[in-house]
Amino acid sequence: MNIPRILDGKSVAAAVLDECRAEVAALAEKGIVPGLAVVLVGEDPASQVYVGSKTRTCAELGFHSRKIELPAATTQDELLKVVRDLNADPAIHGILVQSPPPAHIDEEAVIRAIDPRKDVDGFHPENVAKLALEDPTGFVPCTPAGCMKLLEVAGISTQGAEAVVIGRSMIVGKPMALLLVSKKSNATVTIAHSRSKDLPAICRRADIVVAAVGRPEMVKADWVKPGAVVIDVGINRVEDASKKSGYRLTGDVAYAEVAPLCSAITPVPGGVGPMTIAMLMKNTLQAARQLG
Ligand code: GUN
Repeated sequence: MNIPRILDGKSVAAAVLDECRAEVAALAEKGIVPGLAVVLVGEDPASQVYVGSKTRTCAELGFHSRKIELPAATTQDELLKVVRDLNADPAIHGILVQSPPPAHIDEEAVIRAIDPRKDVDGFHPENVAKLALEDPTGFVPCTPAGCMKLLEVAGISTQGAEAVVIGRSMIVGKPMALLLVSKKSNATVTIAHSRSKDLPAICRRADIVVAAVGRPEMVKADWVKPGAVVIDVGINRVEDASKKSGYRLTGDVAYAEVAPLCSAITPVPGGVGPMTIAMLMKNTLQAARQLG
């Protein structure tokens, strides 16, 4: 039987965070303490967990961190004022507004209001352009950057590989495709999505599958070519009466049936999730370095 490699995001993230600690010490000698502000509007329970992890990791690394929790009824103008104040605050190098905001918020306008030099999510159009241009002064969105780091550390080559990214979001799918097709990675990339014709057949072509659709266990065994590498970005809460919380976390990949076919696969939780936070810390250090 094939035994797949389990790509352990927790240990790779821990190694990235150790690198960050060394850089925090180097910046301290120049009198710079990296500062990250995380803004959460509303009470979405999953977002609360993510924001809590981000600020906790900042504290562990010796960053200055500010968690700004705003009520769901916060207006667009109030949120824009918070962002502008953070833009002007010299103690803050990185600004992140947790997505998704409540429906009445124009998220695009909020992203555009963030100073692109502090946009550690890499969502501002200036940073999206820099990613497409392969300009290293831009910020690469944290989740796709984390997926690339996992592949790199595992020694999985993307050179000339057939990669299929399922999902076309600005947070994961599109930037992931740009990273895979870059001159450094040289993959041949297909971006598939919910309207793609015959998604299983497209997916079966892939040497590397990146699933980022947000649908629990959508990618089945007959979607995956034997020996493929599967990166599961999904973190879905599904009801589970046997759990104290009433739910369990599952990815976009039907892990139990897909894993035995793969050469390597990320688990959920403990795969891509911890990498996202580690890359956010790296981006905040990049911002602190570049802003000085
Ligand atoms: N929601 C899910 N992932 C992310 C992320 O990487 N950044 C922000 N701001 N919101 C998210």
